[in-house]
Amino acid sequence: MENNKKKVILTGDRPTGRLHIGHYFGSLKTRVSLQDEYEQYIEIADVQALTDNFNNPQKVRENVKELVLDYLSVGIDPNKTTIFVQSMIKEIAELTVFYSNLVTVSRLERNPTVKTEIKQKKELFGEDGTLVTYGFLGYPVSQAADITCFNANLVPVGEDQLPLIEQTREIVRKFNNIYGETLVEPEVMLGKVPRLKGLDGNTKMGKSLGNAIYLSDSDEEITKKVMKAVTDKNKIRKDDKADPEKCMVAYYHNIFSEDEKKCIFEECRAGKRGCVACKKQLAKNICNYLRPIKEKRKYYEKNPQIVDEILKQGTKKASIKAKETMKLVKKAMKIDYFE
Ligand code: TRP
Repeated sequence: MENNKKKVILTGDRPTGRLHIGHYFGSLKTRVSLQDEYEQYIEIADVQALTDNFNNPQKVRENVKELVLDYLSVGIDPNKTTIFVQSMIKEIAELTVFYSNLVTVSRLERNPTVKTEIKQKKELFGEDGTLVTYGFLGYPVSQAADITCFNANLVPVGEDQLPLIEQTREIVRKFNNIYGETLVEPEVMLGKVPRLKGLDGNTKMGKSLGNAIYLSDSDEEITKKVMKAVTDKNKIRKDDKADPEKCMVAYYHNIFSEDEKKCIFEECRAGKRGCVACKKQLAKNICNYLRPIKEKRKYYEKNPQIVDEILKQGTKKASIKAKETMKLVKKAMKIDYFE
């Protein structure tokens, strides 16, 4: 297939930390498998990261490279996928301004993802309304600009992102209605495991929750974390019968122990399996699974100039595409005065 006939994918991540296995099964794996079939863009969303971390720019900067390393290590191929930095594409910022007229403040406040995040902020810092900045409340608008800037057809993300993509679709419909058919309305694609639970049983795996296994964790770190995973509380002695449904170790065996899981669950139910041995087996399987990923990461860590070049070239390529979209948008909005 000709490159220009391929459908377009856009996804992105905030550079606020390394990626974990939740990201891997929620989105990264899908991105790797689709990069042949689609024209794929992956955005390092530094501008979006700053909406939450405007007072910590160093953290954002450091994590840009970490993200590129994570992408390359899981098998994102820079010859097939364009990796770029959001802040370097000024058309995204321009589009954000144009789209901000098409969204009401109350609609943003009702966005379920934004709502949850505001609630979390209030729990952490008290009822201080000043924490909700204009930029933070508006980040779904900026995300709509990310996606539409590349006329993306498909956005593979985890479940938590659904309300943001819905918001994008609304903006696209409104834009096309007012200014004429210009933008593509994107579809969501959920990973096989839309949301991976944390080692502690929390429904979300996250940095701040301390319940995540990172793609770059050492074998020792992985083992230590797995040994602390939550198991069925009713199982006290090694030969007590237990319910794998109530055990996070079993939950992860489901993913990492394809060949052994049937036997593992039977033994667990029959009280023939101690938790310590069970955890060790899981840790070993996770370590084996992540080994090739970490080896690839090591190669790129040793060759930082290659990583820099990939990001630079990707950003250049993304910029060309963004300019094409901007031309159409400005024409539709009747603000294409002169070149
Ligand atoms: N909001 C996403 C997250 O927090 C990151 C992101 C930014 C994104 N722009 C995007 C995801 C565009 C998909 C499409 O992980």
